[in-house]
Amino acid sequence: MTERPTLTVPASLRHARIHGLGGYRPERVVPNSEIVDLIDSSDEWIQQRSGIVTRHRARADETVVDMAEAASREALQAAGVEPGQIGAVIVATVSHPYQTPAAAPILGHRLGIPNPAAFDISAACAGYCYAISLANDMVRAGTTDYVLVVGVEKLSDFTDKHDRGSAFIFGDGAGAAVVGVSDFPGIGPTLWGSLGDQADAITQREAWTDLRPVMEDPERTDPVRWPSIVMQGQTVFRWAVFSMAQVAVETLEAAGVTAEQLDAFVPHQANMRITDAMIKTLKLPPHVPVARDIAETGNTSAASVPLAMSRMLAEGEAKHGGLALQIGFGAGLVYAAQVVVMP
Ligand code: UT7
Repeated sequence: MTERPTLTVPASLRHARIHGLGGYRPERVVPNSEIVDLIDSSDEWIQQRSGIVTRHRARADETVVDMAEAASREALQAAGVEPGQIGAVIVATVSHPYQTPAAAPILGHRLGIPNPAAFDISAACAGYCYAISLANDMVRAGTTDYVLVVGVEKLSDFTDKHDRGSAFIFGDGAGAAVVGVSDFPGIGPTLWGSLGDQADAITQREAWTDLRPVMEDPERTDPVRWPSIVMQGQTVFRWAVFSMAQVAVETLEAAGVTAEQLDAFVPHQANMRITDAMIKTLKLPPHVPVARDIAETGNTSAASVPLAMSRMLAEGEAKHGGLALQIGFGAGLVYAAQVVVMP
């Protein structure tokens, strides 16, 4: 028997960091007043219970890929990285309206990235933090030098405007990061996980296949319900406040960083009250700036963390090169968190 040859693999790990961030919010700003009549609500209730004042909504002809492209161009420019240097594109989204092909290969083509590995991931509001973890591992292992990570959602396509529990929450937008080789560690250990027994807590209401019999049978008159995303608000709220705050604490420990040493806290923009509860559990000192982008941008799921962080950097609220704790959590239920060095 001939001896099996030993595979050539990288012998040591490299460091990785985020080199640049970009964000895109659609032009149209939708205030609470435009939403309240359909759900028997009020501007006051929405602001008090969620902290949301406005959200942005994409034009009917503006796609997930369009928004991802805008955010990616900004991230590439901020990173000073050419499309030709990108080896992989990961798009985190739950609202790209094609089962296949994925958004990532189309995005890579639009950006002029030659022949990238390209795929979408579905991890809802944790999608960006999941993708940052994947990109970190890909770069560290030497699979590729630079990865474009995008969190993007056009949730307005999947929101039931009559649903009291979700109609006011979701917004559209995109955030992007270029993750690449670094001479210092720029992405700490990821704490992540899932609770599949809680799959009903946030879910698309119908499967696509549920629509088919109704659409194909001319005899049937029952109305076709659009597969909107709905959630059990209180269940998710309690999980976020009790369990996610603890994950945030453990993520700091895993990175060997104290709350005192943070330069920013960027939680998923789900609800201002969840953010406030996390601040308490983390015992976050008042000098640490906290992302509160939800007020203007709503909950943009996979896009919320990079959108919030890029705004903090652009507005000088957080300092370039500082340490940020970021955490995403949502439908699955799934979550992921890590400490990163901001670009
Ligand atoms: O991004 C993925 C992760 N998502 C989240 O983390 C979201 C987590 N959940 C939440 O943010 C909150 O649960 C919501 C903002 C969705 C809802 O806030 P809540 O404080 O949990 O409201 P609730 O469902 O407990 O309802 C409280 C009251 C009820 O009235 P009564 O029974 O106290 O008289 C509801 O009927 O508010 C009423 N209500 C509303 N009132 C005005 C429920 N929805 C509305 C509404 N407008 N849209």
